[in-house]
Amino acid sequence: MSIRTVMAAYFSPAGSTKKVTVAIAEGIAESLSAKLREFDWTVKKNREWRLEFTPSDLLVCGVPTYAGRIPNKVMPYVKENLLVDRDLIGAREKAESNAAETPVFAVPVATYGGRAFDNSLAETAGLLKGNGFAIAGGAAMPCEHVFSDLMQPGRPTEEDLAEARAFGRELGEKIRAFLEAADGAWEEPVLPGDYAPEAYYQPVDLAGQPTNFLKALPVLLDKKCIGCGRCQAVCPVESIEMEKCAPKMPFGGSAGGLGMPDLAAMKVQAPVVKGICIKCQACVKVCPKGAWTFEDEAFLRHVEMLTHTYGDAERENEFFL
Ligand SMILES: Cc1cc2nc3c(=O)[nH]c(=O)nc-3n(C[C@H](O)[C@H](O)[C@H](O)COP(=O)(O)O)c2cc1C
Ligand code: SF4
Ligand code: SF4
Repeated sequence: MSIRTVMAAYFSPAGSTKKVTVAIAEGIAESLSAKLREFDWTVKKNREWRLEFTPSDLLVCGVPTYAGRIPNKVMPYVKENLLVDRDLIGAREKAESNAAETPVFAVPVATYGGRAFDNSLAETAGLLKGNGFAIAGGAAMPCEHVFSDLMQPGRPTEEDLAEARAFGRELGEKIRAFLEAADGAWEEPVLPGDYAPEAYYQPVDLAGQPTNFLKALPVLLDKKCIGCGRCQAVCPVESIEMEKCAPKMPFGGSAGGLGMPDLAAMKVQAPVVKGICIKCQACVKVCPKGAWTFEDEAFLRHVEMLTHTYGDAERENEFFL
């Protein structure tokens, strides 16, 4: 049995989790001479896909840490749609074939913004184990916090990504040796944290008082917005709608007597947030004009605490084999 496909599958609204998940998958694919594939389940329409894996596939599953765990709005996706092949599970139950005994490997990867990853890595591992995967290894990687570029700024750096690839290669070698030996059972690494956590991290302010910003929404600086629609396209929970708006004349002029204004250059639609917001900052980061801000006071007090307490925290990449 050999692994032919390594799938990097990630939820990554602001892009860091994608980078580290792909880097680890590249390292594994290189050492196993396997094909690398990528699946981005950040946007909702991609979360309609169910992926089933066999022993000739390996899943690298990347998630960011939100309040110490896998983001709650996408946890069901991992639980219900990143699965070991159903026929194989059936064969395992009946112990029908040798293939039933070969592990289907998964590698959970958690990113975090320099506070702590708490249970996000172990929780992802727990979900994947519940779906029948064997945990091959795991990684927790500090990345720039989406709430503030004062926390782990610029990470993952090229050096971080090189470490991620090196870890992937090392893990790939270990898996290859195991598959070639074809004797004994795979020993899973023990990952830090709770595999089935119940509580989330409670955000606090500088005085240690709980801050509640669950209902906070991004605010649009309308004058800056050019109506391009990019924020709508990236919102992972499809909470941004583009609404028609009356085109304003550029330069404050009037169409009368001067011919028709250039409609293509005018803003004819503007985004409106309707529905829940998971504070992922995808809209803020993608906007070419810096037109989205978060002004919620409780949110800002939490960010103040984070930057004050963890702004210069030194965090290492942690790899588990
Ligand atoms: C709602 C929310 C909660 C977060 N909670 C934590 C946390 O508990 N600990 C931490 O260190 N970082 C936390 N972060 C930071 C992210 O884990 C980090 O920026 C991550 O790399 C973002 O991944 P992405 O760039 O793929 O979207 C949080 C971010 C968001 C949006
Ligand atoms: S509206 Fe909220 S959930 Fe949607 S992209 Fe912006 S921050 Fe993320
Ligand atoms: S990405 Fe920015 S400029 Fe484009 S529609 Fe959204 S807010 Fe407006």
